[in-house]
Amino acid sequence: MQGAALLAAALAALSVLQGVPRGAAAQRAVNQFPDDFYFGASTASYQIEGAWDEDGKGESIWDHMLHTQPNLTADGNNGDVAADSYHKYKEDVQALVGLNANVYRFSLSWPRILPTGDTDNINQAGIDHYNDVIDELLANGIQPMMTLYHWDLPQELQKLGGWPNIVLADYFVEYARIAFENFGDRVKLWLTFNEPDIFSIGYATANGLAPGANSSGIADYLMAKTIMLAHARVYKLYDEQFREAQQGRVGITLDCDWYEPLTNSTEDADAAERQLQFQLGMYAHPIFSDSGDFPEVVKQRVAANSEAEGRTRSRLPTLSQEEIDFIKGTADFMGLNHYSTSLATSGLKGSIPSKDYDTGVITSAIEGYPTGEGMTDVPWGLRKLLNWVHEKYPGYQIFITENGFADPPGVLNDTGRIHYHRGYLSAVLRAINEDDVPVIGYSVWALIDTLEWMSGYTRKFGLYNVDFDDPERPRTAKASVSVLGQIYQSKEVPLQDFEDADTMPPVL
Ligand SMILES: *[C@@H]1O[C@H](CO)[C@@H](O)[C@H](O)[C@H]1NC(C)=O
Ligand SMILES: *[C@@H]1O[C@H](CO)[C@@H](O)[C@H](O)[C@H]1NC(C)=O
Ligand SMILES: *[C@@H]1O[C@H](CO)[C@@H](O)[C@H](O)[C@H]1NC(C)=O
Ligand SMILES: *[C@@H]1O[C@H](CO)[C@@H](O)[C@H](O)[C@H]1NC(C)=O
Repeated sequence: MQGAALLAAALAALSVLQGVPRGAAAQRAVNQFPDDFYFGASTASYQIEGAWDEDGKGESIWDHMLHTQPNLTADGNNGDVAADSYHKYKEDVQALVGLNANVYRFSLSWPRILPTGDTDNINQAGIDHYNDVIDELLANGIQPMMTLYHWDLPQELQKLGGWPNIVLADYFVEYARIAFENFGDRVKLWLTFNEPDIFSIGYATANGLAPGANSSGIADYLMAKTIMLAHARVYKLYDEQFREAQQGRVGITLDCDWYEPLTNSTEDADAAERQLQFQLGMYAHPIFSDSGDFPEVVKQRVAANSEAEGRTRSRLPTLSQEEIDFIKGTADFMGLNHYSTSLATSGLKGSIPSKDYDTGVITSAIEGYPTGEGMTDVPWGLRKLLNWVHEKYPGYQIFITENGFADPPGVLNDTGRIHYHRGYLSAVLRAINEDDVPVIGYSVWALIDTLEWMSGYTRKFGLYNVDFDDPERPRTAKASVSVLGQIYQSKEVPLQDFEDADTMPPVL
């Protein structure tokens, strides 16, 4: 540990002993969460529900893609049955009870409610199902947090081109209205979209996420404009027609890893910042910044590359001043998904055109930290990201809607996951109590093992194991459940674990 860090740790430990208030966290020790903090776990409809064509549900782009191209997932599996949560949701609620969670983040399947994507066919059985889930949660003292769109677009809307077609915003508003009307009396935490940055890959590539539109550097940018306008319109719909009666809050979930400059050169610092702007700023800046619109660096680089390609206009769509003003400020909080940290340096990669090429950053794994399946356990990266977000977009509370550790199937004594969550929760505490970042909740990805998109069942994030070979899909608590359950109940990371988190390799 470096001298300054050692001193900081010593001061922090001292303040715990003496009960010294630090920053805005008056009256609370550094290892304690605020009293009203949300502790939860997350899932998404396609990844857990199964019952893909039951009770009137329509086809989604994921059903369609993995039925027509089954070999796209690592093990050839799809979400037809998944964890069978459509039938076993009461067991999922008991899993949350076992975790001492006070919030559950889950998503609505749009084609389960509107099989064609439009209001010509409102599937009452789908609405009934989510009413049952919500009521079961509330009966067990758990708040529902509902994501409207976690990637399972009705296939009928893909026939229109999906999200790159601006008309999708009209459909999304009508779908959201039905959700607010039916569930808003009991659901007070809403998220419009989950990770547009990630699901844009489905428009850039043919073999990645659904729908596999294979329009790199074009459709993935066109989509961004639709998503921003659709989000803003749904926020305003809630504001104007539902907020007064329902008194809930509406946000959006964005994703970002942390990028540490490879060296202390100005080029690498710029590269790390650029990576954050292309990944997070792209969707955060229009909503959460004072000036609105896509970030300047994104606009400049895409326009310059577009010109070099001989195009007469940028591949990045333009937002008019009216649209910029319309989108700005349309959130009650920011949902943030974070998993890991990488190193960043300036350099070109990716095809022309592509978002990677436009970004102009080469990332690499950071050495010397524990690793999971395709990720590195670097807790201070989350603290740095939270500070970056708060500095760029002050005035917004942050809800960590996903944070989680992947390991291979069948690991019940999941010591890697336990290490990860102790460290990351400690980093969140440092951000809240020492840096005054207003983090209001933390929800682990994932409550149970899921169909993990292209990884199928080969990579596990669940706090509860699901046996996907057993038709009953039994759930079994992993060791992490009791560790997190203890933290969730006591609202603190035990001091020993909190201090251990500081003995990770030093910040570069
Ligand atoms: C995957 O399936 C598609 C369509 O059935 C086929 O064309 C392709 O060759 C397969 N790819 C592999 C790697 O098996
Ligand atoms: C994706 O598009 C590129 C051209 O932009 C083409 O060369 C490639 O074959 C396409 N891939 C698939 C799988 O369709
Ligand atoms: C970082 O910058 C300092 C000078 O400010 C220099 O002495 C040092 O060698 C640099 N370290 C790296 C890793 O580039
Ligand atoms: C889990 O693994 C750790 C580390 O190997 C070991 O100390 C512990 O006893 C194990 N717990 C169980 C329940 O097997």
